[in-house]
Amino acid sequence: MAETNYDVVIIGGGPGGYNAAIRAGQLGLKVACVDKGIDGGSTLGGTCLNVGCMPSKALLHASEMFAAASGEFATLGIEVTPKLNLSQMMKQKAESVGALTKGIEFLFKKNKVDRFQGAGRVAGAGKVEVVAADGAVTALAAKDIVIATGSVPTGLPGVAVDQQRIVDSTGALSLPEVPGHLVVIGAGIIGLELGSVWRRLGAKVTVVEFLDRITPGMDAEMAKTFQRALTKQGIAFKLGMKVTGATASKKAVSLTYEPVAGGAAETLEADYVLLAIGRRPWTEGLGLESVGITPDKRGFIETDHWKTSAPGVWAIGDVTHGPMLAHKAEEEAVACIEAIAGKAGHVNYGVIPSVIYTSPEVAWVGKTEEELKAEGRAYKAGKFPFTANSRAKINHETEGFVKVLADAATDEVLGVHMIGPSVSEMVGEYCVAMEFRAASEDVARTCHPHPTRSEALRQAAMGVEGWTMQA
Ligand code: FAD
Ligand code: NAI
Repeated sequence: MAETNYDVVIIGGGPGGYNAAIRAGQLGLKVACVDKGIDGGSTLGGTCLNVGCMPSKALLHASEMFAAASGEFATLGIEVTPKLNLSQMMKQKAESVGALTKGIEFLFKKNKVDRFQGAGRVAGAGKVEVVAADGAVTALAAKDIVIATGSVPTGLPGVAVDQQRIVDSTGALSLPEVPGHLVVIGAGIIGLELGSVWRRLGAKVTVVEFLDRITPGMDAEMAKTFQRALTKQGIAFKLGMKVTGATASKKAVSLTYEPVAGGAAETLEADYVLLAIGRRPWTEGLGLESVGITPDKRGFIETDHWKTSAPGVWAIGDVTHGPMLAHKAEEEAVACIEAIAGKAGHVNYGVIPSVIYTSPEVAWVGKTEEELKAEGRAYKAGKFPFTANSRAKINHETEGFVKVLADAATDEVLGVHMIGPSVSEMVGEYCVAMEFRAASEDVARTCHPHPTRSEALRQAAMGVEGWTMQA
């Protein structure tokens, strides 16, 4: 029988919860993590490892290889005729995910984290109840409770997800066949990443979006370039359209939509529909009322430095405001536990990068041009296209550019926006620069290895002062 008195009990075993548990263990706190698993499963890792970041990246990688073998390889003088083995592609995805979730079990043991499997519920100040799958209840006592219960897909009236023909992201990660026609509702990150996967594997893909642009929140110039790139790959966009309903039969879905601005309704016939219009915080059955916490109108738990309105109850990750990203949850986990341990927990919310793992990739950190204009902040921009980057040219990956935005007076880097090859790996350079409040000149005068795509980051920084040398 495990102990039941803890310094910290964490509810949720995703990137917020498991990182909080590990950090608490490292700091010598007596810690337990309660997790109910995803969709009846029993593995740790939450949305990210089980049905989010990791399986989607596994399919993005595999489908990108398939697309390269189907086209780009021939340019390089490699003649192959690839044949898709979808069940093997799904199997390798499941194996990688399985290994990663086991890794967290190992880290829990290493850091002396007690794990409780079941649904956690706050049962008053300092109390958590765990209800196991067989109904057994375990009562835990804790000085501090951290809620890290994450988020679930948002529904849409008239579009009932059955995970057969009308799926959410979880269903779209495991379709049994390549759809003839996949209709995606929502031109956000999930829609475009998973739409790309199935497009590369041969599906016709149509994306229906409510707004008149894709990827709201992304710098508008990047979003336009990104949409052009995806359109070239064969993804069709219907922007400014409101979906009014979807009817699934055994083998197909009929979807109706109409212009947001008004006009005639239209119908699309699809083999599968992916609903990806955002996610909402997951707080059902959490017992928040027992400590007087009322989520806001959209269901988020409101916090101040990860503290909720109830003494000794903290919240982090997707269940709180801010970008719903694994690394944001991880940052908050560390800061929250350090605050609980009496240290100075800190998150720099201005330096949380975003990445879309399509091809080309899109990555950004800091302010967009639109945000700077709205703030009335004077800025200078430097831009560098990958067509002028020698490594990108040699590799035939010249689509995209890097844009650096810096304060007009101080030259401090305020935002960086990249679309192109491997930008997911390169945006970290600017995160470090921005954490140190670097000027664009600091990057422009830092030696970068040649030939690498990272030289584009330097050349764009040079552009802020108008001395880009290679374009
Ligand atoms: P979650 O990961 O959702 O974990 C919450 C955990 O709490 C779950 O295990 C759940 O079962 C458990 N739980 C809930 N209620 C209870 C309860 N009452 N008792 C016990 N346990 C409970 N982010 C990125 O940064 N990069 C990506 O590439 C990326 N790709 C994504 C792809 C997809 C398809 C999706 C859906 C999401 C993706 N995300 C990505 C977002 C990322 O998965 C989330 O931001 C991240 O998982 C949030 O972490 P969390 O710990 O707050 O919550
Ligand atoms: P999203 O917020 O990224 O995009 C949703 C899109 O749906 C928006 O463009 C929105 O305007 C549109 N929309 C909303 N209501 C609509 C309607 N009724 N009809 C048509 N369109 C509508 O949400 P998404 O793609 O579901 O992803 C959820 C979250 O998961 C993301 O915000 C992100 O935080 C996280 N995620 C992160 C990834 C990454 O970091 N690479 C990958 C996948 C998900």
